[in-house]
Amino acid sequence: MRMAHGLRDNGLRYGRVTRIFHWSMAAILLWQFSGIVINRLFGRSALTDLLNSTHGELGATILLLAALRALWGFYNLKNRPKHENGLLGIAARLGHICLYALMLFIPAIAFLRAFGSEWGLALFGIQIVSQGTENIGWMVAPANLLHGVFAWTLLAMIAGHITMALIHRFVWKDDVINRMAGKIRDLQPAE
Ligand code: HEM
Ligand code: HEM
Repeated sequence: MRMAHGLRDNGLRYGRVTRIFHWSMAAILLWQFSGIVINRLFGRSALTDLLNSTHGELGATILLLAALRALWGFYNLKNRPKHENGLLGIAARLGHICLYALMLFIPAIAFLRAFGSEWGLALFGIQIVSQGTENIGWMVAPANLLHGVFAWTLLAMIAGHITMALIHRFVWKDDVINRMAGKIRDLQPAE
């Protein structure tokens, strides 16, 4: 079935929908990590309070977008740009799968904790879980153990991902970046 021009992936490049997911989530994650990293490096300030005031809301948005993006990915699986053969291609595929897993898992366990925790939870100004209720051990344990660790792992993996994109562009001088950025070329893949 043909869809409107450029919406779907086409085997040579990602389409508009994938790109909107990719770049909007990159922007949200930049906001999410900036608040925490700037706080760690330079201490708390009006800027970090502003950036961190949306932590739960942005986490919820990432969880929703990651789930939709994964569904869209499955729908487009057959016409996504191919990874190269060999170890590097396998590493790229595994790396992308790990990025998805972390984008889903990190906020999911945070919500599990919030629903079972005495801290309570307000999202977009609405109190969803009231404060002061008793902690439910099995609900808070995963995030207490892993939320921070996995979040830092995600940041490290994003750094690796960006480094690889730069190596493709400036060292190997291939056109991998054009799959996700720049003009949506209307070339059809060779079957
Ligand atoms: C993909 C989404 C998310 C990312 C990338 C993320 C990232 C982080 C990071 C980097 C930290 C600091 C860890 C440290 O100090 O070592 C943190 C802490 C925290 N986050 Fe998130 N977070 C996300 C979603 C959420 C959501 C949805 C909630 C609440 C429902 C939440 C609640 C918290 C809380 C309460 C802390 C402080 C306690 C702790 O470190 O576990 N986060 N988050
Ligand atoms: C400056 C920042 C970034 C650049 C230059 C960049 C570049 C790229 C490029 C060129 C591709 C296509 C790679 C291929 O087909 O093998 C890609 C795919 C991908 N990127 Fe990024 N990226 C950036 C940030 C991020 C961030 C923050 C995430 C979030 C975790 C992310 C997650 C992904 C994923 C999961 C894919 C696989 C395609 C998909 O399912 O959307 N990227 N990126």
